[in-house]
Amino acid sequence: MLVVPGPRSPLLSERLARALGCNVAKVEHKLFPDGEVYVRVHDDLRGQEVALVQTTWPNDSLVALLLLQDAVRRLGPKRVHVVLPYAAYARQDRAFHDGEPISAEATLKLVAEQADSITTVDLHRPASLGVVKLPTRNVSAVPAIADHFRALPPGVVLAPDKNALDRAEQAAKLLGADVDFLIKKRVAPDVVEMQPRTLDVASKRVLIVDDIISTGGTMVTASQVLKRQGATAVSAACTHGLFAPGALDRLHTAGLEQTVATDTIEGPASAVTVASVAAEALRHHVAVR
Ligand code: R5P
Repeated sequence: MLVVPGPRSPLLSERLARALGCNVAKVEHKLFPDGEVYVRVHDDLRGQEVALVQTTWPNDSLVALLLLQDAVRRLGPKRVHVVLPYAAYARQDRAFHDGEPISAEATLKLVAEQADSITTVDLHRPASLGVVKLPTRNVSAVPAIADHFRALPPGVVLAPDKNALDRAEQAAKLLGADVDFLIKKRVAPDVVEMQPRTLDVASKRVLIVDDIISTGGTMVTASQVLKRQGATAVSAACTHGLFAPGALDRLHTAGLEQTVATDTIEGPASAVTVASVAAEALRHHVAVR
């Protein structure tokens, strides 16, 4: 196998290649003066199983992936296994109003056109992969996140809403902690309210686990509620750290003990890697004939 690194996922590509014991191809990437994307793969891919790794956020990264898929195909690989560490548009997983697209499905279908398999990590709604008629795997970053918190384990793991409870339950089980959930209501794109709910967090260290942190609004409000109820320290963990401008500062000012994300989106908070779970999924795809 050979890993072809997308320009948005260079670090994870290196780590994935290390986990798989294979090489990383050389990829050139630049923007034309008018903002269009240019990519070129400088390796011979003939007959190889290729893992093409690219997070598709922001928008240019999706274009870069589509162009890389075309470039890779022209180099005659045996199969192309696309790894989408963070699959953008996953939260628009249904048409909430008439006239809206199902963006999660529209983007996955595009990627599937030039792939032999797709691997995602903590996809917002794993059922979105049902639209793809290829082998797919959605792997979980929660065990790797839980490992990170073993050194300073929480007494309680919380989900910011009921939909995120599975993830929190998995982390709580791995850390031997209690589990509970908040009830969140988004009142503006960056403002979240929590419905009153008494939680057993007094004098406890709390970890909130979500799939995505974007504006930080969810984590900031959750942390305020928990501190008011006597939590001694609150940390926030997510798989995909989108961190909209100002979000990391906002989280820091809110007094969170730690804000941790994985390398599905590479940035300053990426303290956890998903390389080993992604490698496991790729080994599975390659074994399937
Ligand atoms: C929402 O459905 C997601 O699971 C996250 O809870 C959300 O994206 C977090 O956004 P923010 O950081 O802006 O509150």
